[in-house]
Amino acid sequence: MSLPVGVLISGGGSNLQALIDRKQTGVLDVTIQTVISNNSGVKGLERAVEHGIPTQVLPHQNYPDRQSYDRALVRALRDAGAQAVVLAGFMRLVGPELLAAFPGRVLNIHPALLPSFPGLHAQDQAAEYGVRLAGCTVHFVDEEVDHGPIIIQAAVPALPNEGAEALGSRILALEHRIFPQAVQWLAEGRLEVQGRHVVVRPGARPVATKDALPPCLIFPSLEEGF
Ligand code: GRF
Repeated sequence: MSLPVGVLISGGGSNLQALIDRKQTGVLDVTIQTVISNNSGVKGLERAVEHGIPTQVLPHQNYPDRQSYDRALVRALRDAGAQAVVLAGFMRLVGPELLAAFPGRVLNIHPALLPSFPGLHAQDQAAEYGVRLAGCTVHFVDEEVDHGPIIIQAAVPALPNEGAEALGSRILALEHRIFPQAVQWLAEGRLEVQGRHVVVRPGARPVATKDALPPCLIFPSLEEGF
């Protein structure tokens, strides 16, 4: 049975689009019951409407505190029939009430190789720091910021002085690959959390050999003989 999910966004919704695209190619078996944004007029809402997905705008400013906002989110998600929550560029912290309402069923995508660079502007943080490898992480959400058990990560080389925008767009392209995969693992009930570790149980689908990644990523490249 297709997993009914609610997707929370704040902006452009390119990760939402990646989920919609993978649904259309038939590899992602979820039903997006609702797309909820805390901001009105964002592109992500348009993307949802274009695909006939019900949308809701819940402006956080309309709520006196985090707890009441959380409660409103839970109500909206439940009323829509969601059984899991996908944070796809949702720039608000979710609190204990939402986590308790969907235990082990809230995923987030973060544009850094956690635990490096949690919080806002992760791509800028990585670019400024001068890391050689940057990337993205899909993880279960817990009560700390960008902290829960890690499901999947993807790395890209970070070029000196390329700036956060170029780095961010290379990271984003990989976000679009790993996020739908992680959501599908959740939908198939294949993710087992053991403390901080997430085990992905084997499934029926073979590993994609055409896109198989090298076993390690070293950047800059080693010279012959090393
Ligand atoms: C992505 O980089 C995501 O990792 C971060 O916010 C951005 C959202 O982009 N949490 P989009 O709205 O999915 O295009």
